[in-house]
Amino acid sequence: MTKILITGATGQIGSELTPALRARYGAANVIAAGHARQPSADIVEAGPYCQLDVRAATALQAIVSTHQITTIYHLASVLSAEAEASPQVAWDINMNGLLNVLDTARLHHCAVFFPSSIGAFGPQTPPENTPQDTIQRPTTMYGITKVSGELLCDYYHQRFGVDTRGVRYPGLISHKTLPHGGTTDYAVHIFHAALKEQRYDCFLKADTRLDMMYMPDAIKAALDLMEADSSRLLHRNGYNITAMSFAPEEIAAAITRRIPAFVMRYAIDPVRQAIAESWPRHMDDSAARTEWEWRPNYDLTATVDDMLATLTRNMR
Ligand code: SER
Repeated sequence: MTKILITGATGQIGSELTPALRARYGAANVIAAGHARQPSADIVEAGPYCQLDVRAATALQAIVSTHQITTIYHLASVLSAEAEASPQVAWDINMNGLLNVLDTARLHHCAVFFPSSIGAFGPQTPPENTPQDTIQRPTTMYGITKVSGELLCDYYHQRFGVDTRGVRYPGLISHKTLPHGGTTDYAVHIFHAALKEQRYDCFLKADTRLDMMYMPDAIKAALDLMEADSSRLLHRNGYNITAMSFAPEEIAAAITRRIPAFVMRYAIDPVRQAIAESWPRHMDDSAARTEWEWRPNYDLTATVDDMLATLTRNMR
């Protein structure tokens, strides 16, 4: 029987992956673990919930052993801009947390899902049609922990036979839980500001193009990859996946088409601008399409329509 532990269950991805996994595998079989943020009522009430700092190896092993966990979705991570503010803390949480998860998985025979990111690339990476296998020399602490994480997952698979799998997520757009400390966060904040104030001060330049994805596709990617036929996974870790690629001026235009009074202004944050400029503009995700039939459902128009409709409903 599949029994799942999700770390970072209160975060942007975890707060939506947890109910999706509970719907698929049964609420009692999915243990949500959070740390920094208060869990929302539905996460705590709909199934088992516990507090966990992923750096605490003994506590992690106790949860996995007690609940006879078979699969760990390891989402707990410090994002890019926050990692630049506290690089040593980011290394500690992102790397030692992952090492604890992988070692626990080795001892207890669990499969592991580890999300990498567009941040695993750097300024020397080809920014257009970024290949699956290419140069990765990230210049941020976040990116260094993500590329090291991909390598560590490969190592635990090759050396110890742990069933590790993962994707390189682009910027994620969602309405349930706000992202925290990332460079692509503007693409979420813009919707809240557009509905509340009809204006938004964007911290990235108008033409800073990056890969993006709507949360339902991000959840689908995690579920599909973890259920894929293992023998077809030639890459296993760090699959490029993308659903759309746009710049701030394009998402602003898409919002203006639905909220004509909306005005975008620019107040550039040099740290996040430099991070964004070191990342790909559009990844080639053909390896994921070939090896486990990855296909996104939401483009920019569908995302904007659904975000505005859902947030408007939630504000009533
Ligand atoms: N969304 C992340 C960030 O901006 C990238 O993976 O840090």
